Amino acid sequence: MIALICAVAENNCIGLKGKLPWNIPEDLKHFQDITDGQVVMMGDVTYESIIGYIGKPLPNRKNVVLSFDKNYQDKVPAEVEVYHNIEDALAAHKDDDVFFCGGASIYKQSIELADTLYITHVHQSVDGDTFFPEIDPKIWKEVEREDKDGFSFVIYKRK
Ligand SMILES: NC(=O)c1ccc[n+]([C@@H]2O[C@H](COP(=O)([O-])OP(=O)(O)OC[C@H]3O[C@@H](n4cnc5c(N)ncnc54)[C@H](OP(=O)(O)O)[C@@H]3O)[C@@H](O)[C@H]2O)c1
Repeated sequence: MIALICAVAENNCIGLKGKLPWNIPEDLKHFQDITDGQVVMMGDVTYESIIGYIGKPLPNRKNVVLSFDKNYQDKVPAEVEVYHNIEDALAAHKDDDVFFCGGASIYKQSIELADTLYITHVHQSVDGDTFFPEIDPKIWKEVEREDKDGFSFVIYKRK
């Protein structure tokens, strides 16, 4: 499985100034539960945002960071894997389930490779500077939905 996991506002916004534009603890728990023990792949901006929030890489997950900075591996803990393109990162984890977890530039490049989307639809429009690509209903079919107060957990599968 290659999945994208993301919380998305009604206006497709996902981030503001390197951070999340909302505070939804239940969504963070949802993210933890789904990705626990799995491989998570992210851009270096998202990785540094996570370091800003929790002070360390995501625990109990293989953190894979995409960066064009050829020295980036020297800037992160040894257990974090750095790749300079998505193909090499996926090839190294071809036998694993992989979760792309942001940010916008990584979602844009990986959505065409994915078979599953874990989307938290946040039921508000927010100000921001980073956006999720369109979830084209001709390509993606909703297969599961759990409605909460102010947001919904939805799983899409590629048709
Ligand atoms: N709502 C959510 O669920 C959610 C989840 C994650 C992140 N976010 C938000 O998204 C925002 C960050 O998104 P972003 O697009 O700015 O940053 P990002 O995707 O996290 O990281 C971008 C970085 O990755 C590098 N990169 C891009 N494609 C690459 C590739 N194919 N191979 C190697 N390196 C590559 C970029 O290099 P270049 O700059 O040279 O292109 C850039 O340094 C933050 O606000 C964050 O909070 C939201």
